[in-house]
Amino acid sequence: MSEKKWKFDTLVIHGAQTPELWRNASLAPIYQSAAIRYDSAEELSEVFAGKKEGFTYQRLNNPTNEALEKRLCLLEGGLAAVVTSSGMAAVNNALQAILRPGDQIVCSNSLFQATYGLLTNALKKLGIEVRFVETCDPRAWEKALSERTKLVYVETIGNPRMDVPDIKRLAELSHKNRAPLIIDNTLATPYLFRPLDRGADIVVHSTTKYFNGHGSAVGGVVIDSGNFDWPEDKYPDFKVYKENKAKLAYIDKLWREIHVSYGTCQAPFHSYLTLIGLDTLALRMQRHQSNAQALAEFLAKHLLVKWVNYPGLPESSSHATAQTQFGGKGYGALLTFGLEDEKACFALIRRLKLVYHLANLGDCKTLIIHPWSSQYINFPVALRRENCISPDMLRVSVGIEAVEDLMEDFDQALKAV
Ligand SMILES: Cc1ncc(COP(=O)(O)O)c(C=O)c1O
Repeated sequence: MSEKKWKFDTLVIHGAQTPELWRNASLAPIYQSAAIRYDSAEELSEVFAGKKEGFTYQRLNNPTNEALEKRLCLLEGGLAAVVTSSGMAAVNNALQAILRPGDQIVCSNSLFQATYGLLTNALKKLGIEVRFVETCDPRAWEKALSERTKLVYVETIGNPRMDVPDIKRLAELSHKNRAPLIIDNTLATPYLFRPLDRGADIVVHSTTKYFNGHGSAVGGVVIDSGNFDWPEDKYPDFKVYKENKAKLAYIDKLWREIHVSYGTCQAPFHSYLTLIGLDTLALRMQRHQSNAQALAEFLAKHLLVKWVNYPGLPESSSHATAQTQFGGKGYGALLTFGLEDEKACFALIRRLKLVYHLANLGDCKTLIIHPWSSQYINFPVALRRENCISPDMLRVSVGIEAVEDLMEDFDQALKAV
């Protein structure tokens, strides 16, 4: 049976595996070597010139990293991928590969805090103008987008606002304005949703989260569909890359101009850990999501909980879009909920016995954090509020434990608050 016919659950385990290149080892080995040795100067020159396939130096390429790139690219239905040192390196590289000072971009206003920081600090200093748009308001996108727009950027499920934009509609709008659509698909993963199938052009991930699944390595990836044609009058910098590599122009430009120059390579050991985690992605996502749904419903009914925000709940403003877009396969596994005030949130965190209190998501273990006093602590209060972060809010990344034990843990902690 060909790879093309495999269901996702098979593809995630068997797809793009090449044991014949690894002396028949069943896992990609860790090529823990800064550089690769060549007998002749002629051969190394050909590899550097891109005339011959091969590896040179770890900042540029590495066989373990390539194994991860191939598997992730296949899962997202892309043409080419580059793994990076972190999710933020992937976000930064994906944007900077396209932008020049003076460019304007249009982004959702529901973004991960460090992405928001990148856009409003580092990219602003480079002369990039960012227009933020209400994620689920198609008319606001229509108004903000123009021929000047160089790219459009959203998260499939916004972290931590939990809102879900209509990706197909956004792809149509972006393309009408001759701009590529870039999606951060970290919270959904391709198990739940593949943005490239709905017209998006580029996908980024923090592989630190569900791909790795065990909180054992930080990493990121940029995956290109190869479909956006980078019109020369609007993206003149792409001309030389298009002549050289045609559909691979974007990844080649990103790799040469940003990834290699900024030194954002992933450590091969991190790729190895993520390759192992990837095998169980489908199984884990099923359980993450069914647990999240059950826990969200449990918390929504709990007398001591003021509110719950999870796209799987019918009262969520994103429920209908998420249901259609994700085809009933789930709603991710991140949720937020509210208590009386910050004091109550701190007390709950103290009382939880099973749930880990730390700044990550997508781990097998259930994790909790109080964003107002942690990830957002250095944002001025008005900006925290603008980002929909409130002192009464807790964020939970639901793990894969027995959900009854999770409910019991939350129940005993809530009662003790
Ligand atoms: C949606 C999203 N994108 C990007 C990132 C950044 O990833 P990393 O921490 O691997 O740099 C995160 C991290 O939490 C995230 O949640």
